[in-house]
Amino acid sequence: MSNKILVTYATRSGSTAGVAEAIGKTLADSGAQVDVRPMQDVKDLTPYQAVVAGSAIQDGKWLPEAMRFLDTNQVALAQKPFAAFLVCMTLAMKNAVNHRVVEDWLEPVRARVKPVSEGFFAGTLDINRIPSLRQRIMYRISVALGVWDVGDHRDWNAIHRWASSLVAQFNR
Ligand SMILES: Cc1cc2nc3c(=O)[nH]c(=O)nc-3n(C[C@H](O)[C@H](O)[C@H](O)COP(=O)(O)O)c2cc1C
Repeated sequence: MSNKILVTYATRSGSTAGVAEAIGKTLADSGAQVDVRPMQDVKDLTPYQAVVAGSAIQDGKWLPEAMRFLDTNQVALAQKPFAAFLVCMTLAMKNAVNHRVVEDWLEPVRARVKPVSEGFFAGTLDINRIPSLRQRIMYRISVALGVWDVGDHRDWNAIHRWASSLVAQFNR
């Protein structure tokens, strides 16, 4: 089998793609061969020694296409090192007590394939890019109430640290 690693992602407004690219770069800098691809472009996991998969969170869940990716590839993923991550706004909330809930959001992932490692990252809030008017209003209200701030909350150091830790996990 090759030593190629797949980093694959599901996104709505692009911030998870940026996290996946950063993970891919860290893995490539450590000497791995890496492909970074949106989940809908991945047809075959055979070429990969390990897989890192991540999704934006909407309504406390991985996006539907990310869950479909897991369902379609459950057997293949169970046979290789598999790491999972999520990108959400809860981790950008000022009150850290609220952060604990995010661990539960990977439970449906764990139920399908047990990850060797899990990454939890804050994302980006750009209200103008939210397609639904109802959701835009909800987010404007939550910003006005001080629940969180608009902008890019991605912590590149945390993302880099997690990606670096995967190299050892994948070689076990
Ligand atoms: C419709 C919608 C629902 C969301 N639901 C949640 C949620 O339940 N919990 C959370 O922490 N973040 C939630 N978010 C925030 C996104 O996870 C965050 O903006 C993330 O960075 C989006 O990733 P993307 O740019 O890759 O699509 C939601 C965002 C949108 C637009």
